[in-house]
Amino acid sequence: MTDKVRVALIGAGGMANSVHYPSLAEFDDVEMVGLCDVVESKLNETADRFGIEKRYADYQQMLEETQPDAVYVLMPPHHLYDIVIRCLESGINVFIEKPPGVSTHQIRWMAEFAEKNGVIGMVGFNRRYIPLLELCRDKVVVHGGAMHQVVSTFYKWTEAPMHPYYNGAVDILTSDAVHAVDTMRFLADAEVTKVASSVRSLGMKYDVAFNALVEFDNDCLGILLSNWRCGGRVHQFEMHAAGISAFVNPNYEAVIHADGEEFVERLDSKQVAGSDENFKFYGFYHQSRHFIDCVKSGQEPLTSFQDAVKTMELVDKIYQSGM
Ligand SMILES: NC(=O)c1ccc[n+]([C@@H]2O[C@H](COP(=O)([O-])OP(=O)(O)OC[C@H]3O[C@@H](n4cnc5c(N)ncnc54)[C@H](O)[C@@H]3O)[C@@H](O)[C@H]2O)c1
Repeated sequence: MTDKVRVALIGAGGMANSVHYPSLAEFDDVEMVGLCDVVESKLNETADRFGIEKRYADYQQMLEETQPDAVYVLMPPHHLYDIVIRCLESGINVFIEKPPGVSTHQIRWMAEFAEKNGVIGMVGFNRRYIPLLELCRDKVVVHGGAMHQVVSTFYKWTEAPMHPYYNGAVDILTSDAVHAVDTMRFLADAEVTKVASSVRSLGMKYDVAFNALVEFDNDCLGILLSNWRCGGRVHQFEMHAAGISAFVNPNYEAVIHADGEEFVERLDSKQVAGSDENFKFYGFYHQSRHFIDCVKSGQEPLTSFQDAVKTMELVDKIYQSGM
């Protein structure tokens, strides 16, 4: 590998333009060597914006001509699998968004192919890289030792469409509430032992509310609160350890209580990240930094394909453990 990590990009859609390519564009040690999208207008607009010269409608041609070290595959989950496997088989490190395919089966095989080909696969569970969340987690663990209780909340409002995500290709828990499931695992920092859950459709043709109690092997209890028929988007976390609690909404702030005090510290999400740009204070920038560092060092990422299998297995258990 030269001094710069040569990154090829597949997908010129919303997430690519709003968070991932702006992050990569700020790294001195990254060269964006080619961009592929099947929609010509999106391809050209995005390539112009990020100064990318080589443009393709066919990703296989891009991989052959640019010979990248890594590739970002940024498209809806039901289109990922074949492209990801082809990249891994070509010996290229791969970054994908969440969810990592449409089933545990798919991410298990992506992980298998990454290992077989000696390359890194990473999933964009960006909440784990949010500076405020990381800081609070460190403070809680330093003060109180291992977490004994975490609450992972994700509420949204959907206007009752006929189907869940992507014309029904993926269910809500796998596609989106999975962020709360993954962050719960991250905060508990242990293996799941037991799950009790409630999965409800609330009058819709598909499931919209996913609530669960999850026991971990370090005695931590995880509580998942997620519901897509609520008043609006609220995504927040509670962390509790002996003598300390943090209540964190990464869009705004965290409040920490310790040793019986009603209030100890208030932390502003943007101040902690040193930026009021969403892609920086909401974890995307630090996530890409971690991926590039792992590509350079060969280290397994925090949110590797292998680790994402565990998050998807917990999604399965939540469906299987309904009351
Ligand atoms: N982490 C988060 O908070 C978050 C938020 C929103 C979406 N996402 C995830 O990001 C992913 C991408 O979502 P998006 O909204 O950016 O999608 P999008 O639909 O806006 O963009 C996908 C792009 O891929 C292109 N494309 C499709 N098939 C292609 C092919 N074979 N070759 C080349 N280009 C192809 C499309 O033309 C489109 O431009 C999804 O998995 C979604 O779940 C994550």
